[in-house]
Amino acid sequence: MRDVKDLVLPHLQSPKGYDGVRSLEAMAEESGIPPEKIIRLNGNENSYGPSPKVAQALASFDQYNRYPDPEQKRLREALSDYTGTSPDSIVAGNGSDELIDLIIRLFVGSGDNIIEPTPTFGMYRFSARLVDAQVVPVPRDRNFQLDLESIELAMDQRTKVIFLASPNNPTGNTAREGEIRKLLELPVMVVVDEAYYEYCGQTAMPLLGEYPNLIVLRTFSKWAGLAGLRVGLGVMDPHVASLMMTIKPPYNMNRAAEVALVASLRDRDLLMSRIKPVVEERERMFSLLESIPKVTPIPSQANFMMVRLPEGRGEEIFHSLAKRGVFVRYYTDEEMKDCLRVSVGLPSETDGFVEALREVVKE
Ligand SMILES: Cc1ncc(COP(=O)(O)O)c(C=O)c1O
Repeated sequence: MRDVKDLVLPHLQSPKGYDGVRSLEAMAEESGIPPEKIIRLNGNENSYGPSPKVAQALASFDQYNRYPDPEQKRLREALSDYTGTSPDSIVAGNGSDELIDLIIRLFVGSGDNIIEPTPTFGMYRFSARLVDAQVVPVPRDRNFQLDLESIELAMDQRTKVIFLASPNNPTGNTAREGEIRKLLELPVMVVVDEAYYEYCGQTAMPLLGEYPNLIVLRTFSKWAGLAGLRVGLGVMDPHVASLMMTIKPPYNMNRAAEVALVASLRDRDLLMSRIKPVVEERERMFSLLESIPKVTPIPSQANFMMVRLPEGRGEEIFHSLAKRGVFVRYYTDEEMKDCLRVSVGLPSETDGFVEALREVVKE
């Protein structure tokens, strides 16, 4: 019998996984703190939760025994109203993560490459590596602005997609329209990932009519509190959308996600009314963090911010916070090793985090 390991594709023999947010139970077990006392600020989730209409709609829906519509008719119509674009330019996905994966499948093959201005969201490189593509990181400048010249220099014949998160995760800053236009003039697909759009109000959506190589991603995980139900979308040239609809798994959007999405859009005013308190909380957290010696928060346009810690102490501080039941995001990358990313949650969560950080930094 052949060793099954030899049957695995060569580039997946020892893959790098995605370091996702672990379950509340796992965090409680690691810290020895009961789940209800854990401060969970590591996933950029929405601490306010979904619209109350979501639970009502899920409870009264009676078609769970039926497959979802592979053509996503109702969903695409509802999303057309949200995006202001035609339904045939929209593809809904199991989180925007799935859209990232579908984009890679459609445009990027083995030996091709993608470009990502770093530091940035980890799913672009994760999905690219699965298809044996190369990932070309192009570092942002000291203020995390794009280095357009280096991006252009990094391109070659096999560059297929540039992934640009705006606001960027983890740095929280947005790209300017002029910069996005310059990228769109390049002969590659440009994905503008607007997962945090509702917190900043800046969008590349109006450029879609001018540039068929643009794809805009959005998600309901952040502003609408549906991270656990997985609702994302891509808006693109209708021809690209029709190809993506053809290659996606037929029932990629489960019926619960569909029901929750429609109910959320019906309660959009309530969900949008929760944006302001999060933005205000972000600014309050920023001021509190500024008052801790040797701690520097980085201004952000999203529902999280990056925080610079005293030099050489990043990992230790991250672990000490976790021991106190405070979970934030830590990155082992060289350029990020003295930083952490913290989500903006409820005022009580901010207070718990800031107090724990103040103590831990003093140690
Ligand atoms: C920039 C960015 N894009 C996409 C996602 C994924 O969102 P979703 O939950 O829709 O898969 C995230 C999640 O943190 C993100 O930060």
